[in-house]
Amino acid sequence: MPDRIRLDGKVAVVTGAAGVIGTATIRLLAERGARVVAVDRRELDLQGAIKDLPAAAQALAVTADVTDENEVAEYVRAAVDKFGAIDVFYNNAGIEGDVAPITRYSLEAFRRVLDVNVVGVFLGLKHVLPVMLKQNKGSIINTASIAGLIGSPEVAVYSASKHAVIGLTKSAALECSTTNVRVNCVCPGLIDSRMLSAIIQGRNPGNAPTPNDKIVERIPARRLGQASEVASIVAFLASDEASYVSGSAYTVDGGRTAS
Ligand SMILES: NC(=O)c1ccc[n+]([C@@H]2O[C@H](COP(=O)([O-])OP(=O)(O)OC[C@H]3O[C@@H](n4cnc5c(N)ncnc54)[C@H](O)[C@@H]3O)[C@@H](O)[C@H]2O)c1
Repeated sequence: MPDRIRLDGKVAVVTGAAGVIGTATIRLLAERGARVVAVDRRELDLQGAIKDLPAAAQALAVTADVTDENEVAEYVRAAVDKFGAIDVFYNNAGIEGDVAPITRYSLEAFRRVLDVNVVGVFLGLKHVLPVMLKQNKGSIINTASIAGLIGSPEVAVYSASKHAVIGLTKSAALECSTTNVRVNCVCPGLIDSRMLSAIIQGRNPGNAPTPNDKIVERIPARRLGQASEVASIVAFLASDEASYVSGSAYTVDGGRTAS
C-alpha cells in the first residue's frame, strides 16, 4: 500500500525558503521524497539553505522578489521548465515590518508589509493556480499566523496582512472546490526564530532581552514552537494524507489561541 504521507517525486515550490521556517520545510519535504524549487530574494542564504538537501531533491534555487509579478512568473516558469509540474506550493515568504503603535506607524512601512505578505501571496496564487488547475491536482499552503486570527499590538499591519492571507486561502479554496487542487494555510504561533526575537525586541526597545519564561507564560504548552513543527503540518497538508482538507487554517501554536 502506498504511504500517503510520502511525497516521492512530487515537485514542491517554496518561497521564503532561506528563512527559518522555509529552510526547515524544504528539508522535511525533501526527506519525504519531494523535488524542491527554493525561492527567496536572498541569493546567498538560499544557496546555504539548499546545500545539504538530498541529491534526490534535485534542488533548484531561484532568486526572486515575491512582490514583483515578472519575477513570480519567472520562478513558476523555472519550476515547470525543470520538472514539468508543480504539485506542492508553499507560499511562505513574509516580513514582520516595523514594530510600533498605529499612531506612529508610517504609511510607507504599512504598504511594504502588505506588499510582501498579501500581494506576494496573491501573486503566487495567481501564477501557480493555472499550472495546478491544468494538471487538475496540487496542494497550496499559505503561511498566515495566529496574528491572522487575533489582534497583535504594535504589529497591527502584520496582523491585518495575515488576516488577509486567511481570506485569500479560503476564497482560493472555494474557487478550486470542483477540482483536485486544495488550498490551506498554516497559522504558526510563537516560533523560536529571528522574526519572533525582532518583534519582542521591537516592543521593548533599549531593554534587556525578555526572559523566555515571560515570553511563554501565555502559551499553554509553556514553550516556543520549533520551525520543524510548522514544517510537519505543511508536509501533511502537501501530502495525499490531507486529500479531504481544503480551506483550512491550521494553528501550530501550543494552544495559544485555544482559549
Ligand atoms: N517566526 C514566527 O514566529 C512566525 C509566526 C507566525 C508566522 N510566521 C510567518 O512564517 C513565514 C516565515 O517566517 P520565518 O520565521 O521563517 O521568517 P524569516 O525572516 O526567517 O524568513 C522569511 C523569508 O522570506 C524572505 N522574503 C521576505 N520578503 C521577500 C520578498 N519580497 N521576496 C522573496 N522573499 C522574501 C526573506 O528573505 C526570508 O528568507 C512568514 O510569512 C512569517 O510571517 C512566522
